[in-house]
Amino acid sequence: MNTPQHVAIIMDGNGRWAQQRGQARTSGHRKGVEAVRQAVKSAGELGIKYLTLFAFSSENWRRPQNEVNDLMNLLKIFVRRDLAELHRENVRVRVIGDRKSLKSDILSLLTEAEELTRENRAQELIIAFNYGGRDDITRAARLLAIQAARGEIDPSSINEDALSRALDTSDVPDPDLVIRTSGEQRISNFLIWQAAYAEFVFLPCLWPDFGRADFEEALRQYAGRKRRFGAVAEQDLALGS
Ligand code: FPP
Repeated sequence: MNTPQHVAIIMDGNGRWAQQRGQARTSGHRKGVEAVRQAVKSAGELGIKYLTLFAFSSENWRRPQNEVNDLMNLLKIFVRRDLAELHRENVRVRVIGDRKSLKSDILSLLTEAEELTRENRAQELIIAFNYGGRDDITRAARLLAIQAARGEIDPSSINEDALSRALDTSDVPDPDLVIRTSGEQRISNFLIWQAAYAEFVFLPCLWPDFGRADFEEALRQYAGRKRRFGAVAEQDLALGS
């Protein structure tokens, strides 16, 4: 089967999962963390090298303060509880997103996770936290503008490759597959540059219910797609279609 190298997931539906059970939205996020653990494990077992998870978007600050606090705390708890295990499993942890507005305690935990696992090579877990695709591109453009203004680079040398390298995902291959749970069919400002040629799979299950079988279903759909990257598939050329 044709397995994607990089899978990115928009983990949607925690709130609805909780609502269906008459519980607070935060209990959906808590259950969502269990699905995160399972997804990392499944990715490793299924031979997926890079897994990017959209944990907190730059727009999520607009949620009620207690929900924002809860999401921050859940990330902290996840890193504290799971970092040693991830390291044992040879998983490299990276974080993408704007770090400027994060509190120092969360920032130092994230840095610690990245530094501890820097040399790990079996698998990569990329956590998109305070991440927005437009913000990623804007920060990359600003960086290149500053370098050009300082005379470090020639503005005419700025091409797609240079911009890609200035993004948070600089040395990560573009996602082959983007999965979104909960039945919504939007990209929501997630990896908008990097997912230019990704395949999209939308699953009806809510994120807290996402398990190994759902991951396999997404991979099955991906394997059935013809990726052409703007060209014509070789077999179609041969058939003259
Ligand atoms: C979308 O559900 C989910 C989020 C905004 C947050 C996802 C976060 C986690 C799963 C937990 C923390 C992550 C890590 C990596 C430890 P929603 O609240 O928008 O659901 P709704 O659309 O049903 O309201």
